[in-house]
Amino acid sequence: MSAESPIVIAIDGPAGAGKSTLARLLARDLDYTYIDTGAMYRAVGLFATQRGIGLDDGPALAGLVEGLSFAFPWIEGELHTIVDDEDVSTAIRTPEGAMNASTVSKVPEVRSALVARQRRMGAAGGVVMEGRDIGTVVFPEAELKVFLTASARMRGKRRLGQMQGRGQEGDLETIIGEIKARDLQDSTREHSPLRPADDSVLVDTSQLPIERVRNILLRLARGRIDPDSA
Ligand code: DC
Repeated sequence: MSAESPIVIAIDGPAGAGKSTLARLLARDLDYTYIDTGAMYRAVGLFATQRGIGLDDGPALAGLVEGLSFAFPWIEGELHTIVDDEDVSTAIRTPEGAMNASTVSKVPEVRSALVARQRRMGAAGGVVMEGRDIGTVVFPEAELKVFLTASARMRGKRRLGQMQGRGQEGDLETIIGEIKARDLQDSTREHSPLRPADDSVLVDTSQLPIERVRNILLRLARGRIDPDSA
């Protein structure tokens, strides 16, 4: 007899390693809910900037996060980020928005408030959650933890491709520089720095086609969901 119960899948790694693409595909393959925690940090950075709140002002940022509502609906096949009834999906996807997200993510008050929400969102299982600290902090008991990496050049090329797909301009060397700056800030911060959980599966996606990684992750996930099937 096989015992199938919905699990938590944590996908962590640096910017551009393929987390979003793979987490979405995996969620679709398994009929799970996909949760993009980076979008939450990006939205906090965006709203703080719009409201003139300092990106290092812990108490003010805590007040801001407390009042925000987050929703991630699929609209015509696209995942949208709705914060306080405002569709910020495009506004959060700029290089400045990425760096602002990384900066507010250093603030302990922001992290603890968002982590608490993320735990509630995944409490029932059946989720693929992507971020930087999902396997280490948000769900250290996740049944499957994946840490995706890739070279900075490859990640830069992917980021440029995504931007061009959205009709945005970009210069590869500038993007690689921004990626490296963000990696450094994310992995050297004091609270919940970006690092693989000890029990995560490490996958370097530099040379692997997306479909290969998709199949690897799907096989791993099925094995954890129903160990009898592995
Ligand atoms: O995944 P992303 O590029 O959208 O994330 C934007 C920033 O948010 C990232 O540079 C660091 C921060 N972040 C974080 O600290 N913890 C997470 N779980 C997700 C993102």
